[in-house]
Amino acid sequence: MVLSSNPAFLRLFPRVKQLIESTASRDENLAALCALLKDAVPYYNWVGVYFLDEHTKSDLVLGPFAGAPTEHIRIPFGIGVCGQAAVLQKTVIVPDVRKEQNYLSCSPFVKAEIVVPISFAGAVRGVLDIDSHDCAPFTAADRAFLERVCALIARLLVG
Ligand code: SME
Repeated sequence: MVLSSNPAFLRLFPRVKQLIESTASRDENLAALCALLKDAVPYYNWVGVYFLDEHTKSDLVLGPFAGAPTEHIRIPFGIGVCGQAAVLQKTVIVPDVRKEQNYLSCSPFVKAEIVVPISFAGAVRGVLDIDSHDCAPFTAADRAFLERVCALIARLLVG
């Protein structure tokens, strides 16, 4: 996978890598990562990680996040944009959430969403979820960058 040629993402990626590889706990690192992404990219208004529920293996459970609290702390596979990305094991971009039937609303301000699976050895371990208050802001550059970020997160999750 080629890292995006977007200069902002090229500058940001080493900071993400350094943060994920720091010696703090997994959740401290992920909380700092969510805050970094939210602060660094103006149209990333909510950034959060959902983990695979290791007991059911068919639910996502909210982990560290940056942004307003959400009621969606447990999401079954297949439900919402997060659940779709977990089942498909593919990045899902929703440019306009009003046109998406299978969508769980967190806030009336959210206009678009990108969800990137966190997978390791062919199995999904969670997803990275980003909401935007802008219309259709996510591009191939976001996808390439965030898929690289999720590859790093996957390594963190499997230790
Ligand atoms: N919108 C997501 C739910 C999580 S919130 O965005 C934080 C979804 O449809 O899965």
